[in-house]
Amino acid sequence: MNALAATSRNFRQAARLLGLDSKLEKSLLIPFREIKVECTIPKDDGTLASFIGFRVQHDNARGPMKGGIRYHPEVDPDEVNALAQLMTWKTAVAAVPYGGAKGGIGCSPGELSRSELERLTRVFTQKIHDLIGAHTDVPAPDMGTNSQTMAWILDEYSKFHGHSPAVVTGKPIDLGGSLGRDAATGRGVMYATEALLAEHGKSISGSTFVIQGFGNVGSWAAQLIHEKGGKVIALGDVTGSIRNKNGLDIPALMKHRNEGGALKDFHDAEAMDSSELLVHECDVLIPCALGGVLNRENAPDVKAKFIIEAANHPTDPEADEILSKKGVTVLPDIYANSGGVIVSYFEWVQNIQGFMWDEEKVNMELHKYMNSAFQHIKAMCKSQDCNLRMGAFTLGVNRVARATLLRGWEA
Ligand SMILES: NC(=O)c1ccc[n+]([C@@H]2O[C@H](COP(=O)([O-])OP(=O)(O)OC[C@H]3O[C@@H](n4cnc5c(N)ncnc54)[C@H](O)[C@@H]3O)[C@@H](O)[C@H]2O)c1
Repeated sequence: MNALAATSRNFRQAARLLGLDSKLEKSLLIPFREIKVECTIPKDDGTLASFIGFRVQHDNARGPMKGGIRYHPEVDPDEVNALAQLMTWKTAVAAVPYGGAKGGIGCSPGELSRSELERLTRVFTQKIHDLIGAHTDVPAPDMGTNSQTMAWILDEYSKFHGHSPAVVTGKPIDLGGSLGRDAATGRGVMYATEALLAEHGKSISGSTFVIQGFGNVGSWAAQLIHEKGGKVIALGDVTGSIRNKNGLDIPALMKHRNEGGALKDFHDAEAMDSSELLVHECDVLIPCALGGVLNRENAPDVKAKFIIEAANHPTDPEADEILSKKGVTVLPDIYANSGGVIVSYFEWVQNIQGFMWDEEKVNMELHKYMNSAFQHIKAMCKSQDCNLRMGAFTLGVNRVARATLLRGWEA
């Protein structure tokens, strides 16, 4: 089942649990606007290259639309649509005053030079500048993009609209980015894990973890879990996987990686087959890479008791059912990885206020938002008699439905 079908299925199940009428259900599912643009740039060798860029603006009942921009060869309209919809429910679960959007360009960023990437980003911004804005739609980085990409968007947008730091989040600190934004998704994953384990009388310290992905989210989650006394016993990325039953030395592994070393060459670990990573013995499994990695083939063999969905839609619906029957507790993506959008909201607030917060305040506020969302999800699970995924979906969908009805938009 593709990402859009899976997300829409979860939405419909939540709408049924909430008893939403069919007209409202339909209007919540249909995106506000879908934008497709052709971006043609001169390559460094003088030839022309064309790329398709997308922006799907899903819903703005609760505030400006918010969502990342992904540069990846497999970016397609269905996936962008699914991710835009997920953002609508995610911002509502997090209780930040935003709607949902997502964008992307079908390209291989690793095969483009820095100046080609800059030209592509600027052309994309020229094509969508009148459809985004601090109070309309606020992009952020996602896979294949970073703070430099946001700096180029900010600069190009400002040529049309004047100085507008709040038009994007995830910017470099020197251009109005927030302290703590880089670590925010991984830190949110750590706070979410802490909250879930505490519910079950457990803690990070004394638990074992397996992490897939060692990029922004995975490396921060690993570092912060390690700092809290958790044992990361296996870890993998696109180059391979490693394990150490006594716990990997994450600071040493970070140093090794930052010096250009491949994961499999880390001295204090044993290389393992990547196909074994997700089914490795552990208390907590944290997928931090791609979508759809847990499926009907590997779900029956999962040994973790808890899964924290740091990646977007890592568990397909068939795997969800299998894991639920096995008694595995899954903490859903629309809550587990919301730390990034929560600190993006803090960045936007700081830009609008023209006042910068210190990192301690950012982390403290993030902790408050993550804990509060967890308590609200638990309350929904109780009132709707459902699992955590449906608890999060019913919470998010209900908040968006209420805003839609209050505005009188349901007709
Ligand atoms: N960065 C954020 O703030 C943020 C926020 C919310 C959700 N997410 C989601 O988290 C996930 C990771 O995002 P990121 O920003 O860390 O990306 P990233 O590009 O920084 O890192 C991705 C990691 O996944 C690994 N990977 C790629 N293909 C793999 C494969 N086949 N097997 C194993 N590992 C593989 C890469 O080697 C890398 O370590 C994505 O699903 C993204 O949508 C990210």
